Amino acid sequence: MNILLIGGGGREHAIASAVKRSGGNLYSYMENRNPGIIRLSDDFLISSNLNDVLKWKYVADGKIDFAIVGPEAPLEQGIVNSLENIGILSASPSKEAAQIETSKKFMRNLMEKYSIPGNVESHYFSDEEEIIRFMKDFDRPFAVKPVGLTGGKGVRVQGDHFQSKEEGIRYAIEVIRSGIGEGKGVLIEERMLGEEYTLQAFTDGNNLIPMPLVQDFKRALEDDKGPNTGGMGSYSMADHRLPFIDEQSFEKSVEILRMIVHSLKREGITYKGTIYGQFMLTKYGPKVIEINARFGDPEAINVLTIFEGDFLKIIEGMATGNLSVKYSRFSNDSTVVKYLVPEGYGTNPAHGMEIVVDESGIERSGAIIYFGSVNERNGKYYTTHSRTIAIVGRHMDLYTAEEIAENATKFVTGRLYHRRDIGKRETIEKKVRRMEEILKDP
Ligand code: AMP
Ligand code: GLY
Repeated sequence: MNILLIGGGGREHAIASAVKRSGGNLYSYMENRNPGIIRLSDDFLISSNLNDVLKWKYVADGKIDFAIVGPEAPLEQGIVNSLENIGILSASPSKEAAQIETSKKFMRNLMEKYSIPGNVESHYFSDEEEIIRFMKDFDRPFAVKPVGLTGGKGVRVQGDHFQSKEEGIRYAIEVIRSGIGEGKGVLIEERMLGEEYTLQAFTDGNNLIPMPLVQDFKRALEDDKGPNTGGMGSYSMADHRLPFIDEQSFEKSVEILRMIVHSLKREGITYKGTIYGQFMLTKYGPKVIEINARFGDPEAINVLTIFEGDFLKIIEGMATGNLSVKYSRFSNDSTVVKYLVPEGYGTNPAHGMEIVVDESGIERSGAIIYFGSVNERNGKYYTTHSRTIAIVGRHMDLYTAEEIAENATKFVTGRLYHRRDIGKRETIEKKVRRMEEILKDP
């Protein structure tokens, strides 16, 4: 089976690896020369113009069986629609279906219209006067969220990124004035309190298969300080759950994703591919923070590292509407992903810096490496503006997996940093205690 993969980061390296493990041929399109993906590919195309994919010989000559898209930007540009027009089906959503991620307003409206549980109070604005008028009588803590895509870096939460109501209003106005989030306007949402978790699922628009739960660490610095990022690392547990999520909340979260997919169907939109729910468990139950139209990065790395089913059958099932649970299997191992990122990542990343990777050291130490936004030139590796290298520890025991990952970070040198606290016992116990306090707070 010939698979076209779009994207050149750590998530896509993990997808590439799953395709190869299940015996597929891999044709990869990316903007940067990712050495991990290139090594696994039967052929690859480097270009910063997405339309070049459509002209690539394997695509134009009809050699590709199915496509899979890693990042959100090509989904928004409608690459899945363009491929379908020339007869290539994808295990990723169309431009219309991807609105569940590319417009937070579309997502909130859909949840409202179909009474899907887990929605939060949310108000849309495209005009600054309206914001000022509305906020006069709004006296609860809130979050300010650009409607369109911002690479995970546009949301600001009261008590966290800003303190006073006035500061929040100023930021909401700035979002409108500077067009942050593609100039689509801004949402003001009630602020939720709780612990966040990621639930990803495979779907063909009808059937839905949940993957193991993952917890991502979005803040740039240890102890959840600093700006939001795309995700500094993540962990998953051997039982595919998280220590602070009860079974009922897990089931509810699966049901929310299922209802979203089925509601889209009622709107005449078939959602195919991975759907990603960023949830928060609050004292009022699971709440939807955002929905993504793709695998998470790093969360894809956690789940695909332990995927032991038939990935090609899953891709084919999503793309053709015949998804079957019999091809989905995840081993009972815990995983810890630590992203090594350029110094200054989250604000002003040290890009174009050479890094040195001792891959055999990593392998000997029992860890796994996935290349992120690395550029290869003349056999040397350089950082870009995004996350550089993901190191994964995998073990039945979570804390052993963490040690494996942490220990292997020393085999990569350069102007990079990572969060040591991800997957550590103290970090996780703290989250469990915080959740207990939130749940018992009257
Ligand atoms: P998003 O890009 O929507 O995932 O938001 C980024 C981060 O902002 C989330 O991971 C949350 O930590 C936080 N956030 C977003 N919306 C809310 C909300 N309504 N209440 C509290 N925190 C939020
Ligand atoms: N790790 C968050 C995301 O992929 O959006």
